[in-house]
Parts: sequence; C-alpha cells; structure tokens
Amino acid sequence: MRASSTPSLLPEPDPAERDRSLRLVARLHDEIAAGDGAIGFDRYMAIALYEPGLGYYASDRRKFGPAGDFVTAPELTPLFGACVADQLAAWLPGIAPCLWEFGAGSGELAAQLLSELEALGFGSVQYRIFELSAALRARQQATIAARVPHALDRVRWLDALPDRFDGIVLANELLDALPVRLFELNQGRVLERVVTRASEAAPARAGLTPGAASPIGLALTSRAADPAFARSVEARLARAGWPAPLVATGYRSELGEQAAAWVASVSERLADGVLLLIDYGFPAAELYHPSRASGSFNCHYRHRSHAEPLWRPGLSDITAHVDFSAVHDAASRAGLSCLGYGSQAAFLLGCGLAQRFTERQSPSDAAGYAQAAQALQMLVSEAEMGELFKVIALSRGVDRAPLKLAGRDRRAALDADGSAACE
Ligand SMILES: C[S@@+](CC[C@H](N)C(=O)[O-])C[C@H]1O[C@@H](n2cnc3c(N)ncnc32)[C@H](O)[C@@H]1O
Repeated sequence: MRASSTPSLLPEPDPAERDRSLRLVARLHDEIAAGDGAIGFDRYMAIALYEPGLGYYASDRRKFGPAGDFVTAPELTPLFGACVADQLAAWLPGIAPCLWEFGAGSGELAAQLLSELEALGFGSVQYRIFELSAALRARQQATIAARVPHALDRVRWLDALPDRFDGIVLANELLDALPVRLFELNQGRVLERVVTRASEAAPARAGLTPGAASPIGLALTSRAADPAFARSVEARLARAGWPAPLVATGYRSELGEQAAAWVASVSERLADGVLLLIDYGFPAAELYHPSRASGSFNCHYRHRSHAEPLWRPGLSDITAHVDFSAVHDAASRAGLSCLGYGSQAAFLLGCGLAQRFTERQSPSDAAGYAQAAQALQMLVSEAEMGELFKVIALSRGVDRAPLKLAGRDRRAALDADGSAACE
C-alpha cells in the first residue's frame, strides 16, 4: 500500500504544485483571521481537501493509481467490482434497480459495476453519482464513456440529496475522507486541537498551548474544548468502554462527526433498500482503545503515508479511520437493520473472489497472472487491505439476503465495550 515517511523525506512537489499549496495557505490564513485566530481541524481538512480549484480533491492532479498518491480497491483490479456486483445481485431482485454511489473517485467502480451487473442480467440499472469534486466528476464521466459507453445514458450526477432513496446506496472509501475534529485529554479535561497561524501559537497567548509549527506558518494547537464538543468526546469514549471520569493525559484521537451525520442523513432518506459501505476502520472499542493514543488520522502523498497534515496543504490526502460502531448507531437510530459487518477479505472471499480469479486469469499470460495475483493479495492479505478494511450493509425494507461474509460476520463487535478490546 503506502510506505511511511516523514515530510523531509517526501518527494519535492513541482513548482506549480508548490504554488497551488501556497495559494491554499493564503486562503487558510484568511479563514483563521476571520475567526477567533483558530479553525477546527474539520474546517482545515474541508479546505485542504475540497476548496474549489485548490484543495486536494478539487485539483486536476492525478490522485489514484500508480501515478497518484494512493490506490483504492477498484483501482487495483476489476475483480473488486465483480465481487461487489455479486453481492448487489443478491439484493437487486427485491429493490428498485437504482445504484447511488457517493464519492466515485476515478469512476472505476461505477464502470465495473455497470458492466458486471449487465452480465448478470441487470442491464437496466440506473446509476446516480454524488461527487464533490468537479475535476473528479469529469474524470468519472470519461472513465464510464471509455469503458461502458452504452451505459452512459443510465448515469447521472446529482448535486443534492433526494428526499428519498430507493435502491442501493454505496460508497467505497468515502467516510474516511470526511473531515474530523481532533481532541486531546489532559487530566480529565477535553482539549480540542485546532489550526492556528504559527506565530499565534506562541505560549504567551492566553488559553493556548504551543503546537507543532509547520514551515508555512500553520500550527496545530490545543485549547479548551467547547462544552458540546467535550460532551460528544466523553460520550464516544464511554461508548468505547472508557471508565468515567477520564483521567488520561496526552491521549489524542479524532471524532468523525461528519461521517456519523452523513450516515444519519442517508439512512433517514433510505425508504426501501440497502446502504453498503466499505472503508478502513474499527468498532469504537478498538478505534478508541487506550493504546491507540495518537489517533488514526493519516496523510498520503505519492504512495507514502505521513502524519503531518499541515505539510504543504492541498497536496496530500488526509484521512481518518472510520468508527463503525458510530456508523451502525446512526443507521440504527434511523431504523435500519444490519445485514452484516466483517472484514474486506471475508466479504470478497464470500463473493467468490478466488473462484473469479481462477476463471478469468489464464496462467499462460504469466505477466498478467502475476499482476492480478498481486492485486488479489493486496485486497485480502491481513497485512494489506484485507483486515483493516471493513464492509457493513444496512437495510430498510423486507427481509434481505445477508452480507456475504464467508461465515465470518463480526457485527457483535460493534456493540462490544472496551472489555472486549480488540476484535
Ligand atoms: C478516497 S476517494 C475514494 C474514491 C473511490 N470511491 C474509490 O474507491 O476509488 C474519496 C472520494 O469521495 C469524494 N467525496 C468526499 N466527500 C464527499 C461528499 N460529501 N459527497 C460526495 N463525494 C465526496 C471525493 O471527492 C473522492 O471522490
């Protein structure tokens, strides 16, 4: 997947990229100045990733694949889409034939699903895409036009959520890209880690403790959390099994409020159908385990991961692991029931990954065989994406087929408290 690195060892961006990042920094400085001298990390992340023309996902630079910053499962091999299509085909006969994909990246998964579902007899399925980035929308359109041109008239891009969804809503690696807020515990107090101008992070400034300054004039600084945020953090940690009062000092993590809000809002609108989410993350008890004391957020730049989100804003992807208990809680509150939760490896193997590989890959093409075998290994290996990535399916409507997990459903872990610790 990605090698870990420190910013000083990252490849130097070209002048155009450096210039784009500096323009984004100027934009961030304005935003910080317009507030109270600090912005939440969620606001920073939203600007760094999605600021029109300047943010990471909003720029034209290639993000996915070998020439980009990271590789996602559908970019690795079309077998991924073939397996997802196998699962969808188990649900589609009883649901409106419409797929709603959020955050479609390069459009690979959409192209794979349209093609695979057609082969399975679902050639009239409508496809709707919600994509924040205009640059990626254009890329998705080009991918689908090149790969499944006859299906293009069944695909539409939407700007706003409909009042109701009927069909299957799906997202691969969407939730990890939604902005998070950062917190830190200090002797029973909840602090929020915010972004300031580096010069304003001086210790003399009242109420702020110094943070790590970046060379471009931004710093991460801790300050007392507002009461609502402090209560949300305390509730999350209690859900993860932490005893009250919180006495730890130095424990840092993040709260994915926007991911939970997104799940709530989509679940409430899901009138009849399934919500299928694939992403990396853990149940709350594992995500907020006391031993995971520096949180999970991470940055990706040219296939290297690093932990400096303030390094050249707009050039790295910034992500955080998904709290799957929070996903499950939000969907349950909206009345959805769980059709299964498990690892990506269990899901893909349950959907016939190994069999599809042998059917489609001829050993006589040695180079193609080796490449496909390597992709398969990345998808299912415990050391790569197989265990870290999880799949959850949530449903409203009549009884539906369970999520195919090859007998390895782990939904009980979503409710476990800290005493169950790791799955
Ligand atoms: C990590 S990429 C995953 C891309 C793709 N699903 C894949 O697996 O290759 C995240 C995607 O979500 C999009 N995105 C982020 N927030 C979004 C939102 N609120 N609504 C729709 N798309 C969003 C990004 O622009 C990007 O296309």
